[in-house]
Amino acid sequence: MPLADDLAAFQGDAATAFAGAADVAAVETARIALLGRQGRIVALQEAFRAAPPEEKRNLGPLFNAAKQAAETAWKDAQARLADQGDGGPLDITQPAPAHRPGSIHPLSRLGREVERVFTSMGFSVVDGPHAEHDDYNFTRLNIPQDHPARDAQDTFWLTDGRCLRTHTSSVQSRFYELAGQGRLTLPLRSVVVGRVFRYEAVDATHDNTFTQVEGFVVDRGITVSHLVGTLTTLLKGLIGRDDVEVRLRPAYYPFVEPGFDVDIRSPSAPPEVRYHDWMELLGCGMIHPQVLRNGGIDPAEWNGFAFGLGLERLAMVRHGISDIRVFHGGDLRSLRQFAY
Ligand code: PHE
Repeated sequence: MPLADDLAAFQGDAATAFAGAADVAAVETARIALLGRQGRIVALQEAFRAAPPEEKRNLGPLFNAAKQAAETAWKDAQARLADQGDGGPLDITQPAPAHRPGSIHPLSRLGREVERVFTSMGFSVVDGPHAEHDDYNFTRLNIPQDHPARDAQDTFWLTDGRCLRTHTSSVQSRFYELAGQGRLTLPLRSVVVGRVFRYEAVDATHDNTFTQVEGFVVDRGITVSHLVGTLTTLLKGLIGRDDVEVRLRPAYYPFVEPGFDVDIRSPSAPPEVRYHDWMELLGCGMIHPQVLRNGGIDPAEWNGFAFGLGLERLAMVRHGISDIRVFHGGDLRSLRQFAY
């Protein structure tokens, strides 16, 4: 009677499998194979149903006994492991699970490099509030209410009248005010690496939250040459190539005069790198006398330059990233690619 043999074999295998299971996972694997909905017990039950009626009389008790024995062996194994705790016997020779070291976010790392280059040139690292008064973010920077330049920087407004700053130039307003009040002494050499916000439709090249680097210098007799020299030093440091060139084109920003957009290139970079040929990177200019005056600084004595650049854009060209959403998406699988 082959089914009787099968039942006996099943019962024996169940006893061996459950008694030998070293941990909860092994018990569960055995249960699925033997007693699960697609386990061996199901085939045995089907064979029993198909058996001729005269054999069923003998097979019935055998089937029940085998199934019950397997279930008992299962419960015994569970009880045994519950007594020992989940892991079963402790194997002190087993290798520890691998630790995955954390890493610095690519933007944070680039931001720190920027700060290092600027501190080496005698700049101070400063910042201001993210939730900013209209006055500092716009009005003191020559962007009055109803000025069309406001349309270019739509933002999120708080119910108390403050907004999320649209650029780090708001920090210029604050520092000029402090200098005008005599709470800071001129000259100023400051750099901001900070988060800014815009009401933007998010796509591969726009995010509503991004990072700007703002540099500003107020001193006596500052010229565009100082600006170009500072930018060239910064970009040589960040790109790590000595042949970095900058090119200025006239541009309009209400808080500088003259204002420029800056392109960079480094012909020694491989041809597939964006800045192998001219690439637009940042805005800058000589601080508008009215902006200094708004802070209480006399533009007849003091002048200076300022510039602002997007850190994500720089990080994207550095790492060959094509989608800005990687930076704030929080997906570690993306970010780990840039860990080193
Ligand atoms: N704040 C400007 C922007 O966000 C950039 C800028 C900074 C331009 C300083 C000139 C001088 O677009």
